Amino acid sequence: MILTLEWTPEGVRFIDQTKLPLEESYVLATSYQQVADVIVTMVVRGAPAIGVSAAMGIALGAKQTKASTTEEFAPEFEQICNLLAGTRPTAVNLFWAIDRMKVLFSKLQAREATLAEVQEALLADALAMYDEDIAACKQMGAYGADLMPDEGTVLTHCNAGALATCGYGTALGVIRGAVERGKRIHVFADETRPFLQGARLTAWELMADGIETTVLCDNMAASLMRQGQIQAVVVGADRIAANGDVANKIGTYGVAVLAKEHGIPFYVAAPWSTIDRATLTGDAIPIEERAAIEVTHHGGKQLTPNGVGIRNPAFDVTPAKYVTAIITERGILKAPYSESLQAMELIAQ
Ligand code: MRU
Repeated sequence: MILTLEWTPEGVRFIDQTKLPLEESYVLATSYQQVADVIVTMVVRGAPAIGVSAAMGIALGAKQTKASTTEEFAPEFEQICNLLAGTRPTAVNLFWAIDRMKVLFSKLQAREATLAEVQEALLADALAMYDEDIAACKQMGAYGADLMPDEGTVLTHCNAGALATCGYGTALGVIRGAVERGKRIHVFADETRPFLQGARLTAWELMADGIETTVLCDNMAASLMRQGQIQAVVVGADRIAANGDVANKIGTYGVAVLAKEHGIPFYVAAPWSTIDRATLTGDAIPIEERAAIEVTHHGGKQLTPNGVGIRNPAFDVTPAKYVTAIITERGILKAPYSESLQAMELIAQ
């Protein structure tokens, strides 16, 4: 299995996703500041992986504190959480993981836990999140496999795979689940400009699993859909609003509109931690704008004229009306999503 990130006695170890597929190398973050840096520079990326990385960063900060009591550590804990929360704004899993660590810390403070107990408990919870993430992906894979065609081509956008999670993947987990059941799936991976998560990462991890994959330039899906060459679309999500609007990698919205026009089902696979019921609609989801250099340059080579205007929003919002179903580890959600989410929340309680 691909080790996207891993807790080690020396720090948090990440496969360097900026170097894949040409080089399989690893980065060891030995401080929480380095974990934050690894998230910002996209050595690690993908909503669930970002969340668990932040939790491990907090555990690492606690382990390395020079404070001698829980009380003395409290302001530093806040500072660690704030630094990690400032890394990437769209993936709600980041805030979900940090909030979960904050709730745990408050409980430990309330029962006057020693600093050693706090350090142990924060690490145990970060490791639990890691295991829960893999289990959630496998469950999504099992539920989502039913929705995949017995035979055919499935389009995905960006990388919502093992590399975007602690293992197995969300959208790619659904594809893996279908393949494990004997379904004959060929994957079309959108290259996903400008960071090329599809061309570099999705292609790399699916090929490692022996799943037939073809990379498409982002502008090819329309024509291939019209020719009947795509039977389903499955993507991940960075944040799902209470009404079912989905924020995901820039370009997802266009794919969803095309899928609807061509009568192709458009599925979103995401863990429950990606659902943000406090955000009522997609319009309220913050969209990260990344550096222009990701668009102006590729592999160190300039592509655009000096001084030209550049936009680089990293995500877009797909309105719920384009989403055929949302696959979660709790089950499959269908429109109207606000009701479906509410019902599944109640069942889980
Ligand atoms: O900018 P990235 O690479 O972090 O964006 C990743 C995506 O958009 C994924 O589709 C999303 O995080 C879901 S990952 C399971």
